[in-house]
Amino acid sequence: KNDQYIVAIETSCDETAVAIVKNERELVTNIVASQIESHKRFGGVVPEIASRHHIEQITLTLEEAFTEAGLTLEDMDAIAVTEGPGLVGALLIGVNAAKSLAFAKQKPLVGVHHIAGHIYANRLEKEFEFPLLALVVSGGHTELILMREHGSFEVIGETRDDAAGEAYDKVARTLKLPYPGGPYIDQLAAKGEESIDFPRAWLEKGSYDFSFSGLKSAVINRLHNAKQKGEELKPEDIAASFQASVIDVLSTKAYQAAQDYNVKQVIVAGGVAANKGLRAALQEKFKDAGAELLIPPLHLCTDNAAMIAAAGAVAFNQGHRAGWDLNANPGLDL
Ligand code: KG4
Ligand code: ZN
Repeated sequence: KNDQYIVAIETSCDETAVAIVKNERELVTNIVASQIESHKRFGGVVPEIASRHHIEQITLTLEEAFTEAGLTLEDMDAIAVTEGPGLVGALLIGVNAAKSLAFAKQKPLVGVHHIAGHIYANRLEKEFEFPLLALVVSGGHTELILMREHGSFEVIGETRDDAAGEAYDKVARTLKLPYPGGPYIDQLAAKGEESIDFPRAWLEKGSYDFSFSGLKSAVINRLHNAKQKGEELKPEDIAASFQASVIDVLSTKAYQAAQDYNVKQVIVAGGVAANKGLRAALQEKFKDAGAELLIPPLHLCTDNAAMIAAAGAVAFNQGHRAGWDLNANPGLDL
């Protein structure tokens, strides 16, 4: 059998990304054109600016990917693209680019869910063993997902308000750190002390759901009170104490779910999986657990198209095909 190549496009938020994956698990090329610099001065992603950047970058990014791989569109077995969730205007650029390529060369087209992508990023490193549990922690999602087989996703817990990354970004903004704030809080936390006792939202007994808006408010209130009293609070200590609360809840619930469902692997996915404190805490927690812990390398944690190619390849080989009516779906269900 010949080698199988899938090219994938990801434009759901503020990265224009194209990647090529060979035989489901081998990463050939992974190009990410980040727009972070353009959004920084607004303290967050501006959807209209994101769309315009994607339009400017998509053709160049595709060309760069094929050039770097030494391959052409002709060599591809299918074209995969993130169809949702995400910013609708941003998604539309990727979806239409993918449809144009597929139509021009009459290649199969596969729509991919962004979160399925984050999970499958791990499969570029290690083969999956089912059942597995995925802890998805990004700017838009915080979920515990049970997979009993390829392409099957059962959400067993999710955030009831803010996503973990969103809480990081909001706290960072309060501390006047640049956008996106997650990595800055991570760095600060390493230098601080967990001297402030912020709340942990455990919710009802046995629940795998999360809630981070109370924690975010607690941090803002604590800063406000300190300011009124003229009390010195070290940003390092705020960061360390905030991060300790997030990590405590994430790692405890992931561990509990892994035990309850007796999973073989635990996968961490999404931008917050880049967090050094979280990575260390999970490694410690799962050291003697029955389940194997997989955490992707940093470049596969934040948004990229390699993960979309990895998920798209499996969907393609399971027979999934999108029609010419494939559309961007900002609220797509997993
Ligand atoms: O997966 P991602 O790139 O985009 C979404 O699909 O949302 O995740 C972005 C999120 C942002 O909220 C960012 O602050 C957070 O991931 N993040 C981090 C770290 N690196 C990125 N949060 C905590 N610690 C980090 N090191
Ligand atoms: Zn993402």
